[in-house]
Amino acid sequence: PSPLRLGIAGLGTVGVGVIKIVRQKANLLAARTGRPIEITAVSARSKDKDRGVSLAGYAWEEDPVALAKRDDVDVFVELMGGENGPAKDAIEAALALGKDVVTANKALLAHHGQALAETAEDKGAVIRFEAAVAGGIPVIKALTEGLAGNEITRVMGVMNGTCNYILTRMQDAGLPYDEVFAEADALGYLEADPNLDVGGIDAGHKLSLLSAIAFGTQVDFDGVELEGIQRISIEDIHQAAELGYKIKLLGVTQMTGRGLEQRMSPCLVPAESPLGQLTGGTNMVVIEGDAVEQVVLRGPGAGEGPTASAVMGDVCDIARGLRLSTFGVPAKALVTAKAARSNSP
Ligand code: NAP
Ligand code: HSE
Repeated sequence: PSPLRLGIAGLGTVGVGVIKIVRQKANLLAARTGRPIEITAVSARSKDKDRGVSLAGYAWEEDPVALAKRDDVDVFVELMGGENGPAKDAIEAALALGKDVVTANKALLAHHGQALAETAEDKGAVIRFEAAVAGGIPVIKALTEGLAGNEITRVMGVMNGTCNYILTRMQDAGLPYDEVFAEADALGYLEADPNLDVGGIDAGHKLSLLSAIAFGTQVDFDGVELEGIQRISIEDIHQAAELGYKIKLLGVTQMTGRGLEQRMSPCLVPAESPLGQLTGGTNMVVIEGDAVEQVVLRGPGAGEGPTASAVMGDVCDIARGLRLSTFGVPAKALVTAKAARSNSP
């Protein structure tokens, strides 16, 4: 069988993790998918940076768009990040040529997901983005595949590990927000723009993507009611604890008679509940469906191995010939979030 040839743009935390899996597990991946998976070309800003992995045998491209267009690239793997700019340009270039795309970029999909999904459909390509939501947890596969026989009634959870780390540390060490924020910064947990994390924006991006899949609606990030954790004080944490609660940045999306409701905000959860017990950078997503009732998924929401694991799950699906619509149903069948209403009274 012919190899599936990957072009990887972005050789940071996630890109390096993907290279390690492809290099170290070549036989396992070929056995599982029925064909070899190879990296043919890569791109990043700096060619000379030591990334701790060998890039021998991979062609180097300065320009991610040129990488996406290469004849020896079947699947364009976008791991640069950014809502616009080279990530968007290169994904569009790949789709225009009918090439499949795998990305971990929630910001880009939260803002341009609908247009990109329509382009993909027109060109016979697929876009997969398991790594964009809740890192290593296969929540998108759960919703689009395993739970496809359900009417989803609600999805909720903790989807930003950095905020969960900060809130857990404040709780456990009794430290004020500013001190724990500085600690998270020193540990390299924060996004380049920390407001994406602590402002709830990153988690809101993820929630808007889950809403589209769960309810068959167009991605509506602007419709997410957002509140970050910046104003949570140590006094709030103590008061919650006295009443038997913990404060979590919790996302909830549900379809009601009034339409789609999406909220990402600090919430009180019972201290002894699974969500209350969630510590550090761990994520948890709770899915409720009419047939299954409730499924709880828990796991690492970020980091090299977990995020690369999710990227490779998508790559393996493509290698196996699985061609799912971006958001689980054809892009042009997605209704606007404003038009959507629950059938229930
Ligand atoms: P990162 O460590 O900052 O790496 C970004 C990579 O992109 C770097 O290799 C950088 O090149 C390259 N890059 C940036 N701009 C470029 C450009 N204009 N042209 C070519 N290359 C460019 O980022 P990351 O943590 O791996 O995250 C990558 C994506 O995964 C993002 O969308 C992020 O939101 C998502 N994600 C990350 C995690 C995580 O745990 N890190 C989890 C889930 C999703 P240089 O190395 O040369 O600077
Ligand atoms: N900043 C994100 C988080 C990275 O803390 O969850 C993973 O998406």
